[in-house]
Amino acid sequence: MSKQSKASDPRELREQVQKGYAEVAKGGSGCCSGSIDKQERSESLGYSREDLAALPAAANLGAGCGNPTAAAEIQVGETVLDLGSGAGIDCFLAAKKVGPRGKVIGVDMTEAMLAKARQNAEQVGAENVEFRQGIIEELPVESGTVDLILSNCVINLSPEKGRVFAEAHRVLKPGGRMLISDIVLEKLLPEELTDDLGAHLGCLAGATLKEHYLRLVKDAGFTGVEVLSEMPFESDGDGPNGLADKLCCGADADDVPRAISLKLRAVKSR
Ligand SMILES: C[S@@+](CC[C@H](N)C(=O)[O-])C[C@H]1O[C@@H](n2cnc3c(N)ncnc32)[C@H](O)[C@@H]1O
Repeated sequence: MSKQSKASDPRELREQVQKGYAEVAKGGSGCCSGSIDKQERSESLGYSREDLAALPAAANLGAGCGNPTAAAEIQVGETVLDLGSGAGIDCFLAAKKVGPRGKVIGVDMTEAMLAKARQNAEQVGAENVEFRQGIIEELPVESGTVDLILSNCVINLSPEKGRVFAEAHRVLKPGGRMLISDIVLEKLLPEELTDDLGAHLGCLAGATLKEHYLRLVKDAGFTGVEVLSEMPFESDGDGPNGLADKLCCGADADDVPRAISLKLRAVKSR
């Protein structure tokens, strides 16, 4: 991926992200998913071999940074919403758990991703999954209708994270919960990196400091905000942006800012 600057306007940046992920849907790389073995990477992120085997192969982009479904305690009959559903990996896992009385909605802004996800749904006959086009800053979902929100390595890409969390809070039922895996930073990144579109698409340059991220979740009205796990954000060093990969993965030197893959749980009060 050639070196290109990020747009400063949120709408324009979303368009850049959309273009980048349309390429990923067509077989490119994103979020440190360069030339990795997707199966291996997904297992290291907490997906079981059985879960992965039951999925349509194309549903796993290798673009996540955790497995938010694992800690979500998904119940039969629930309504689940996945923010930035990609090719549908977490939607299909959730769909099995909620069963025919439940429902899963995946929202993504990238048409090519939605096409891929819908094709996957057809392939496995997942009738309780629906993929909707929209932005996570303005969800195409009715207020107070969702039991569980999932999101995997997406909110870091949003230039308006506060809006995303406010929307997530709006659509949840009272008592509903949010389980997300995402990238946050221990230290601010150098400017040459925060400005780089490749590093943004690689889920690094859009990431914010951990404390700031947690503050935004609380400011949106969530309670019981809990970090369930943290692990270094790793790639094979061969993703879409050399510098980003070096920084996110070779984080043993003191002066290298560390990116962390965080699993977080938060609740909407009753
Ligand atoms: C890194 S991929 C993760 C996909 C999926 N969650 C997974 O784990 O495989 C990011 C996805 O989020 C979508 N996305 C990024 N920003 C978005 C936004 N503001 N609104 C809706 N979708 C967005 C992209 O189109 C892409 O499909």
